[in-house]
Amino acid sequence: MNDDTNVRILDHRTPEERDREFLPGMGKPWLLPLYNVFARFSKVRAVYDRVAALAGIAPGESVLDVGCGTANLSLAVLRAQPAARVTGLDPDASALRIAARNASRRGVPLTLVQGFADRLPTGDGSIDHIVSSLALHHVPDEGRVLFGREAFRALRPGGTVTIVDFGSSPGDGGAHGGAHGGAHGGGREHPHWYGRVRGHGGLRRGRSAVANNPRTAPNPEGGLVRLLADAGFTDAREVERVEHRYGPLTFVQATRV
Ligand SMILES: C[S@@+](CC[C@H](N)C(=O)[O-])C[C@H]1O[C@@H](n2cnc3c(N)ncnc32)[C@H](O)[C@@H]1O
Repeated sequence: MNDDTNVRILDHRTPEERDREFLPGMGKPWLLPLYNVFARFSKVRAVYDRVAALAGIAPGESVLDVGCGTANLSLAVLRAQPAARVTGLDPDASALRIAARNASRRGVPLTLVQGFADRLPTGDGSIDHIVSSLALHHVPDEGRVLFGREAFRALRPGGTVTIVDFGSSPGDGGAHGGAHGGAHGGGREHPHWYGRVRGHGGLRRGRSAVANNPRTAPNPEGGLVRLLADAGFTDAREVERVEHRYGPLTFVQATRV
């Protein structure tokens, strides 16, 4: 728990989940302190602001930021809607501590929960919005499928899920082929910020710890749209697509009917 009563960290993990591995924000735990520096350097703030705008959050509504890391998207949501009730979820205790510090410095309320995308810390139909940025490509295939189902379970009717991640358009054959194409094949390659951070000047097969990490996977065939549709969202769609310097970013949204 954090000292600041408006910012708290809770542990939602089961005993089994305490031993579960995950891929941290920069690929390696010791690189995490650099995450925000590189996020700023790579000009992704506009991406966070765009997700917050697309989500269309009203005062008092609840928002769950899945794979929140150091809270970049959570803070963008609070910039867009200061009266939102925001919770960030991430398995990485170190990232959550940085997130708590970032929120405290800005004097904004934020609940942070240590846990995984495949088991959301919320009751059925209890949440207004789920958002996620650049996180699902860190989640293994089966975890992502469960995340889709969990999002459907947790959202109230009329609630939205808004995701941005590296990925392809529906119909492109699916994959986020760059960062993890090296590990899993499929999809075209594109540079990814880990590659740049590590001085690779772009990601190539066999050269990045992330690309070679067996815990990561490209977004599934048909991408995130298919993932959400399979989970029961009838209007899952790509709402925007941008060519970021580190690869194509897809913005995907769906509403719980
Ligand atoms: C590239 S960072 C993105 C962080 C943040 N959303 C942002 O845009 O700055 C990916 C995040 O996914 C988190 N992550 C990894 N595995 C996860 C899982 N199974 N469930 C939820 N988050 C996970 C990592 O700890 C990391 O914080």
